[in-house]
Amino acid sequence: MRHSRQLRETPTTDPLCKRYQSVRGRTEQLVAPLGPEDMVVQSMPDASPAKWHMAHTTWFFETFLLIPNVADYTPFDPAFGYLFNSYYEAVGPRHPRPQRGLMTRPGVDQVKAYRKYVDKHMSALLMGGLSDELSSLIELGLAHEEQHQELLLIDILHLFSLSSLKPAYDPSWPKDAAGRRGQFKPLSAGLTQIGHSGEGFAFDNEGPRHTTYLQSFEISDRLVTNGEWMSFMADGGYQTAALWLSEGWTLIQEQGWTAPFYWQHDDNGWKRMSLRGLEDIDPNAPVTHISYYEAAAFAMWADARLPTEAEWEAAARAGLLEQVDDVAWQWTQSAYSAYPGFKPSVGAVGEYNGKFMVNQMVLRGGASVTSPDHSRLTYRNFFPTDKRWVITGLRLARDSRQPGVVNPQDSEFARDVIGGLSAEHKSLSPKYFYDAKGSELFEAICATDEYYPTNAETGLLKGIAGDIAASIPNGAALVEFGSGASEKTRLVLDAAPHVAAYVPIDISATALKKAAKALRQSYPNLVVAPQVDDFTRVLTLPEEVDGLTRVGFFPGSTIGNFTHDEAVDFLRGVHQVLGDHAQFIVGVDMVKDVDTLIAAYDDAQGVTARFNQNLLTRINRELGGNFDVEAFRHLAVWNEEKARMEMHLVSQVEQVVTVAGHRFHFAAGERLHTENSHKFTVESFTDLAAQAGWSVSQHWISDAPEVALFRLQA
Ligand code: AVI
Repeated sequence: MRHSRQLRETPTTDPLCKRYQSVRGRTEQLVAPLGPEDMVVQSMPDASPAKWHMAHTTWFFETFLLIPNVADYTPFDPAFGYLFNSYYEAVGPRHPRPQRGLMTRPGVDQVKAYRKYVDKHMSALLMGGLSDELSSLIELGLAHEEQHQELLLIDILHLFSLSSLKPAYDPSWPKDAAGRRGQFKPLSAGLTQIGHSGEGFAFDNEGPRHTTYLQSFEISDRLVTNGEWMSFMADGGYQTAALWLSEGWTLIQEQGWTAPFYWQHDDNGWKRMSLRGLEDIDPNAPVTHISYYEAAAFAMWADARLPTEAEWEAAARAGLLEQVDDVAWQWTQSAYSAYPGFKPSVGAVGEYNGKFMVNQMVLRGGASVTSPDHSRLTYRNFFPTDKRWVITGLRLARDSRQPGVVNPQDSEFARDVIGGLSAEHKSLSPKYFYDAKGSELFEAICATDEYYPTNAETGLLKGIAGDIAASIPNGAALVEFGSGASEKTRLVLDAAPHVAAYVPIDISATALKKAAKALRQSYPNLVVAPQVDDFTRVLTLPEEVDGLTRVGFFPGSTIGNFTHDEAVDFLRGVHQVLGDHAQFIVGVDMVKDVDTLIAAYDDAQGVTARFNQNLLTRINRELGGNFDVEAFRHLAVWNEEKARMEMHLVSQVEQVVTVAGHRFHFAAGERLHTENSHKFTVESFTDLAAQAGWSVSQHWISDAPEVALFRLQA
């Protein structure tokens, strides 16, 4: 006790001294949640008891610093040199590794006293002038202790995983950040420098820095997720020999591996052991605890490969990667061997890295259990190919596509589809229905007997066009959002010759051009100023309508396809772009009897079903998907609680689908949600408009089946 107080009572500004205290102190913090029994047991030959880690890291300082450099130093206990030597042949024989758990003595208290004793003497050594050589050796001892801090945590996790109680090491241990799937990022071919430049501390195996040539390649910016791993499993990944390296295939047969380490299945699905105890698996968090063989098999399944360590380092240095060092060590396809010009450090510590340069693979990055600031972009971790108790994960890489081939993954469509199919409840945005075929099918839907909204709205508009016209100020500009062929607009323009200008807004330049030409012919006095734009994101209007009072027009009940938040945002945006005193005429479909609604979204001829399935065809064509469209059945349901019609595509069988290089698992019966079509009452729509700063000045409702037009006032 006295010694440690003394150490703390001699604060120093010397950075190495401070670092010594902080690293040594962290080991004490890490064992604080453990009881003495937790610290003695060795759960497998690869793992060591916490007590051993505490003693061995201390042995390193005693053996390599104090004994050779402090003249009158007396070792704490002469037996410890044998007990706590790990693998240093130059230092002498040692206690057999697989029997570290049999060391009931020295007890934990004695090991703690050993730490304090060595800390006291190290403190004195640190206070005296240190040669560069000794400083580097202390740095190595501290980096060594940090490596053992990580081992201590993964060894405790392994031990606790074997306990029937499945205890948490620390219930509030931070979770791995979940998020989107990775996207491939390209790097072009060329010479690159990898390895440590010599500035600051690095292990000897990280150098020398040298030049290497990289072919052009692509590397995923994020790690493979649990959800993606589940797709691999569901697609028979662990049962398909063709995906596996021969040794890996033999190993998984022998061991009966069918999932990552620490995964277990019960009636409620997959769970896994973590430092927080047993917990549900988050499909959007990175997969961890996989062997090299599993990582390589997954990469093969995903039509990709593992990156080389040089690719990894070049991409990380270029800032292309997320989840670099905070989740899991990442397997690379590089065998752990010497860099050109490598020389192990001189003396016994030369045994630190060099002698292990065979039969292991390099892992890059860092893990959630890695000590703070321990890792570097040049860091070369290494493990044998079958090890799974380390926190290991993977990121994919692949050879570059042919030059000139546009990578579909870079489009917003691809990002939205990959995001939607990765979600727990798979969904796609209905805005992607409208490719050429989809727009044609929508026209066909409007012509079916069951789909009432179009005809009902046209009928209503014919009846009330005079009313609408009467409230449009003289010389106003009519601005239509998503104007298409501007068919319905004519009903308003016919009734309102005092409208001075018309701004049709549509994403399709061709549709706009055609519509504008026809309108100019029919209404020669009207200024027609088309605007090619995504109508949900309009920020400004053409200068032709500067200074004119604006009246917005948004028929077709498309507002029902927005989520609540999208609808509020859209209405607010329109408010802003139309300005003060503006009016906005909005078409809305009303809540009505369920049979009418269902029939409208599931017509007898199956036009709506084809419209829905066409989204999959579009994905196949534009994103290199392989959806079997016929294996998905159209489903239309009324969601009473949310007052909306929903369209889904229901997977008829269990299947795995590839889209833009990503694979997605569908259970039999699983739904892919493709559209909401919200239905309103006068109250609910008035309320929605109010949230965006509009008040309803008038509304008109058609005969049954009821649709409505609302006039909103800014
Ligand atoms: C464009 N939108 C208003 C239509 C609707 O009713 O929600 C799209 C549609 N979906 C199925 N049938 C029609």
